[in-house]
Amino acid sequence: MAEPMLVIGGSGLLGARVATAARDEYRTFATYLEHRFDLQGVEELCLDVTDYQQVHAIIRALQPKAVVMCGGLGDLEQCEGDRELAFAVNAEGTRNVAKSLGSTGKMVYISSNYIFDGSSVTPYKEDDPPSPVSVYGESILAAENAVREFCPDFIIARMASLFGIDLVARRPNFVTWVLGELLEGRSVDLFDDQILTPTYANQASEMVLEMVNNNLKGVFNVASSSCISRYDMGLQIAQFFNRDPAMLRRSRLEDAPFKAKRPKNGCLDCSKVEEALQRPLFTFEEALVFFRSEVHNYQFNWGRPQKEKS
Ligand SMILES: NC(=O)c1ccc[n+]([C@@H]2O[C@H](COP(=O)([O-])OP(=O)(O)OC[C@H]3O[C@@H](n4cnc5c(N)ncnc54)[C@H](OP(=O)(O)O)[C@@H]3O)[C@@H](O)[C@H]2O)c1
Repeated sequence: MAEPMLVIGGSGLLGARVATAARDEYRTFATYLEHRFDLQGVEELCLDVTDYQQVHAIIRALQPKAVVMCGGLGDLEQCEGDRELAFAVNAEGTRNVAKSLGSTGKMVYISSNYIFDGSSVTPYKEDDPPSPVSVYGESILAAENAVREFCPDFIIARMASLFGIDLVARRPNFVTWVLGELLEGRSVDLFDDQILTPTYANQASEMVLEMVNNNLKGVFNVASSSCISRYDMGLQIAQFFNRDPAMLRRSRLEDAPFKAKRPKNGCLDCSKVEEALQRPLFTFEEALVFFRSEVHNYQFNWGRPQKEKS
């Protein structure tokens, strides 16, 4: 009988990918909060991580070999406007999971590049000191600390600007948003003063599974080997989907009217995980090759209602 794995946030972009990657090897359970799903070979559970009793009951009943925590509030502006909610879900929610699991299984926490302030001139390594500049970043760092406190066998996998096709909730991400705008003929303003290492959800989910199977422990950056600006990402998206690059306009993060501060350098150095798994992470361009085939196969509608055919 296959061992159980629990994916929290199975209705999210990454969680659905982790669950579908795990289902051949594990008896895979995945949770949702608002978006029910129907992923073949994955058992669906409803869970609100802010409710300790619910979390505890599920983990006690399943006794998972590993819990992959992909659930959380990732909207920076929402988090900045509602600190209490951001901490309740991201920090306390993760604490509830970590405390319930303790030393009975492996805890994998999906963390973020936004725990750094972005002032470094090189990509961040795993042991660089965190210094978040947003409520979101603070709540994620608090979650990391809870994982370290309760789970001796943990993996913290830090990612940056996740993208891919969101199988369940159809929430847009940076790449699908840019592509959707270009396909509908609209120009897009993109920052040329913010760099990051975009993370392709499909590859990241496979890496997470391999990290569990290889019994890795500790903190790992799991993103890509391209450290590029939002604007340069846009250029590559336009090129891959045969759109006019003139539809992209340069803008500046420092002029954007956001409530939440974003690090200008959001790049992660991923050499540690590449060496540990003996597997290179994609460049952004390589990831787009796979992403483009997916788009063609899924006839994805970018989360918008399909237009009526006349
Ligand atoms: N997206 C990025 O660019 C990025 C970058 C770095 C790190 N991360 C981190 O990686 C993780 C996964 O990101 P993602 O983009 O895959 O997330 P996502 O698509 O926004 O999905 C979030 C997931 O969390 C669930 N959720 C929300 N509130 C919950 C609660 N109170 N209890 C239980 N589940 C709850 C959602 O359930 P429903 O949809 O059913 O409501 C959904 O399954 C997040 O924790 C995020 O902080 C994200």
